[in-house]
Amino acid sequence: MKMLVLLGSPRKGGNSETLARKVGEGVEKEGGTVDYIRLNDLQLRPCQGCGGCEKTGVCVVKDDMVGVYEAVDAADRILLVSPVYFYGLSGQTKLCGDRFQARWSRKYLLKIRFRQGEGRKGYLLSTSATTGPKIFDCCVLTTRYIFDAMDIDYGGDFLVKGVDAKKAVLELPDELTRAEQFGRDIAGGRI
Ligand SMILES: Cc1cc2nc3c(=O)[nH]c(=O)nc-3n(C[C@H](O)[C@H](O)[C@H](O)COP(=O)(O)O)c2cc1C
Repeated sequence: MKMLVLLGSPRKGGNSETLARKVGEGVEKEGGTVDYIRLNDLQLRPCQGCGGCEKTGVCVVKDDMVGVYEAVDAADRILLVSPVYFYGLSGQTKLCGDRFQARWSRKYLLKIRFRQGEGRKGYLLSTSATTGPKIFDCCVLTTRYIFDAMDIDYGGDFLVKGVDAKKAVLELPDELTRAEQFGRDIAGGRI
């Protein structure tokens, strides 16, 4: 089982990445492999809404997304990782997600399905400073839609509220343990 982690925070070693690495450890302990892509390190143009993908299902903008598309296509499980920024995904994550409009075109305009029946799944990991009941709603909805465009089922989410300082999550050992278990459950096929 090959998992791809798309790190969407610009903060290296911040809350979302720290938890994502724990999830990755859990996956590896169950025999899976994990690759990480830090979106902030890539040169990515926003979707141009040009419709260039509508006849091919392939984006016409040739930048670092070429490698992201390849990595997503090769993965069995995908963990999308983003802090909450203004009640939504970080800009880096949203920009990457928008570029999957090409896969939306492939699925819904060209009616081409991808790796159907293989049980591929995607998950969201997100952290926020505040603790309101709707704090992750926008991130979850957007992520569900991104995975749908990728032709991947939504497997669930790992959400931690009330962590703001860069390493705040390290003070929550139960969440770190829960993150590792989340990874074990992914690799073990339980979620
Ligand atoms: C630009 C920006 C916008 C943010 N917007 C929100 C927000 O709307 N709600 C919230 O609870 N936290 C917000 N935060 C706080 C982050 O979600 C929080 O610190 C998170 O744990 C950061 O994760 P990271 O360390 O992985 O980057 C924002 C932070 C930044 C930098």
